Amino acid sequence: MSRIFAVTSGKGGVGKSTVAVGLASAFAARADKVLLVDMDEGFRCLDLMLGIDSKTVFDLSDILGGKDIDDAAYACDSVQNLYLIPAASKQGLIDIQQFKEFALKAACSFDIIIFDFPAGINPELYCALPEDTLFLAVAVPDPVSIRDAYQISRMLSEYSLPARLIINRFIHSQSRRTGFKNIDNIIDSSGIRLLGIIPESEELAMLSVTHKLKKHCRALLAFKRIAARLSGEQQLLPKLKKI
Ligand SMILES: Nc1ncnc2c1ncn2[C@@H]1O[C@H](COP(=O)(O)OP(=O)(O)OP(=O)(O)O)[C@@H](O)[C@H]1O
Ligand SMILES: [Mg+2]
Repeated sequence: MSRIFAVTSGKGGVGKSTVAVGLASAFAARADKVLLVDMDEGFRCLDLMLGIDSKTVFDLSDILGGKDIDDAAYACDSVQNLYLIPAASKQGLIDIQQFKEFALKAACSFDIIIFDFPAGINPELYCALPEDTLFLAVAVPDPVSIRDAYQISRMLSEYSLPARLIINRFIHSQSRRTGFKNIDNIIDSSGIRLLGIIPESEELAMLSVTHKLKKHCRALLAFKRIAARLSGEQQLLPKLKKI
């Protein structure tokens, strides 16, 4: 049975799509067959990030309209084992019942499915995901963003939807100024279980140009630790200065 993750945040621009691609690449490197689903209707970006925009013809709306998943799950040339379903090109095309059926069907063909949601909260769509979906709230290390992640996790818990926190764009030399002196301090201020920390990274900033992460770059190692944790392996959080 596949494992399903939904990447979310209240605030925009915190790095959800970047985290979705990084995490998908880390799972793909473990030889999992990974499906990324771009949920940002109208503002699709994952096809560009993965460098397959020129070959995509169909998108999520076509699948919901009856097209086979295999016809619109595009293999990413730059990352083996990784497939993308591009976002619907127009907004308001997602029928909840069809989406529910699609998510269940996709779970039969892939080991890992990662839904990259746009900023903001969409309980109707979240609740249409399969029951064991884990929500990954992304925040940057500033108190406003962390509070936002906390609000998201509270809202998700009202619907009995489980969430973990991923801190993105972490810069150790700035961590004292932003009030995050150590891991415990981050965990205390967020109020959600921390899953991992992704460093500020030139590699990630350039992802839309390079379409893949270098094998040993720190960002990919951070994503690999998260993928290992999500696969049930024990992975200690490294010291903040080593992230
Ligand atoms: N760890 C990182 N290091 C450096 N740059 C990053 C990192 N994470 C994200 N970025 C950059 O931040 C910008 C926003 O990232 P991204 O598009 O992934 O955010 P988002 O949360 O998906 O945005 P939206 O809410 O619009 O969907 C991009 O330019 C991306 O390259
Ligand atoms: Mg995005």
